[in-house]
Amino acid sequence: MQFFNSQTLALSSLLFLVANAAPSPTLKQRNPDTISLAKRASCTPTAGGASSVDDVPAIESAIASCGSGGTIVIPAGKDYYLNSVLDFSGCKSCTFNIEGTLTASNNLTYWATQTAIIYMKDIAGATIQSLTGSGVIDGNGQAAWESFAQDSSLKRPTLHYIDGGSNIVIQNLAAKNPPNVFFSVKGDATNVQYASLTMTAKSDSTTAPKNTDGFDIGASTYTTLTNITVSNQDDCVAFKPGANYVTVDTITCTGSHGLSVGSLGSTNTDTVQNVYVTGATMINSAKAVGIKLYPGGSSHGQGVVSNVTYDGVTVTNCDYAAQIQTCYGEDSTYCTTYPSTGTIAGVVLKNFKGTTSTKYAPATANLDCSSAGTCGVTISNWSVKAGSGTAEVLCANTPSTLGVTCTDGASG
Ligand SMILES: *[C@@H]1O[C@H](CO)[C@@H](O)[C@H](O)[C@H]1NC(C)=O
Ligand SMILES: *[C@@H]1O[C@H](CO)[C@@H](O)[C@H](O)[C@H]1NC(C)=O
Ligand SMILES: *[C@@H]1O[C@H](CO)[C@@H](O)[C@H](O)[C@H]1NC(C)=O
Ligand SMILES: *[C@@H]1O[C@H](CO)[C@@H](O)[C@H](O)[C@H]1NC(C)=O
Repeated sequence: MQFFNSQTLALSSLLFLVANAAPSPTLKQRNPDTISLAKRASCTPTAGGASSVDDVPAIESAIASCGSGGTIVIPAGKDYYLNSVLDFSGCKSCTFNIEGTLTASNNLTYWATQTAIIYMKDIAGATIQSLTGSGVIDGNGQAAWESFAQDSSLKRPTLHYIDGGSNIVIQNLAAKNPPNVFFSVKGDATNVQYASLTMTAKSDSTTAPKNTDGFDIGASTYTTLTNITVSNQDDCVAFKPGANYVTVDTITCTGSHGLSVGSLGSTNTDTVQNVYVTGATMINSAKAVGIKLYPGGSSHGQGVVSNVTYDGVTVTNCDYAAQIQTCYGEDSTYCTTYPSTGTIAGVVLKNFKGTTSTKYAPATANLDCSSAGTCGVTISNWSVKAGSGTAEVLCANTPSTLGVTCTDGASG
């Protein structure tokens, strides 16, 4: 047998809690709960104990046995090796408790053909969590970053990928060193919650951990990020085409490209809408928050950004506190001829404070809207100081109702 049942202890303490709960429910009312708890299966896959042994078959067997409403346990102090894709097929309202460590192999040849290390396709109900907070998902990305620095055609997998599905919770764990993006959600997934995650991409050489976006949120509704700490290279959170109803509450990002809408309109009409970010602490980022739209012309599509609020952003040593680019991916000559015809509507930047770096000082923001698009941006309670000199906000094609004093000269 690859795994054994270890539910007895947990179950008896749950029953103890139920039995000692407030006296209001009668015994009769409690019974159905007790029965459904008793039925909940728990599987603990056996770890092979060496990086040469792929633990994915044992974990997938545990999902097959316990995945329908049950719990899969990765115990504390144990290392499990993911030498192939861990596919959550068979999980339906499953709980996956990681108290130990899952470590991906660094077989770059294998991973080059895979989308993700941990893959969830159309999963209805899943919680991946650490009860103690000790659980770690380690993408072991150093070899991939080194190889990518030599050959940028190398394909690298996302650490955890949600393609469709609903009611998925990822919480209270650490994720580190993904070969590429940490967490992706797309495929019209709905109700995905990421909470209390500590995410670190740190190279042990001078090679940067390239493209380690914290979150790529694509076509989906009702994705929430709460209490998140990210240290990485590239976007901390990217709101990608199709992202709708996304809320981010309390996030600290160090060293990233910030909280970024886009890029949109590369070849299609791309929409990002209904995003609310509150309580962002942005440290050493290229920009704290931003929007990236491609320009016009027959080879490009159009970007649409609607109802996006950044509320309460503290900036420390970021190059810009805010940046709007409507000439993304082309040069200014091109964009003069083919300006973006995209829509920016209902974008609100409020309660920004802190100090930018000296890189573009005294500019603290660069808001380059398009002469041929719309620029529905309002700024209020903006008190960002420049790394040196008297702070100014660079603008182009912004409305007179913007809410801050503009200095000409925005670009990008
Ligand atoms: C790496 O992956 C490739 C492709 O799947 C496989 O052929 C090869 O045996 C793997 N190498 C090791 C050391 O496991
Ligand atoms: C926030 O997340 C951290 C782990 O990154 C956790 O230790 C802490 O308890 C969480 N705080 C709240 C309020 O949930
Ligand atoms: C704007 O987006 C927020 C965040 O998703 C949402 O709560 C709100 O209802 C949206 N407003 C409108 C007018 O759709
Ligand atoms: C202005 O923003 C600061 C944070 O930067 C906040 O503490 C304060 O309450 C805001 N004031 C108003 C009037 O919203």
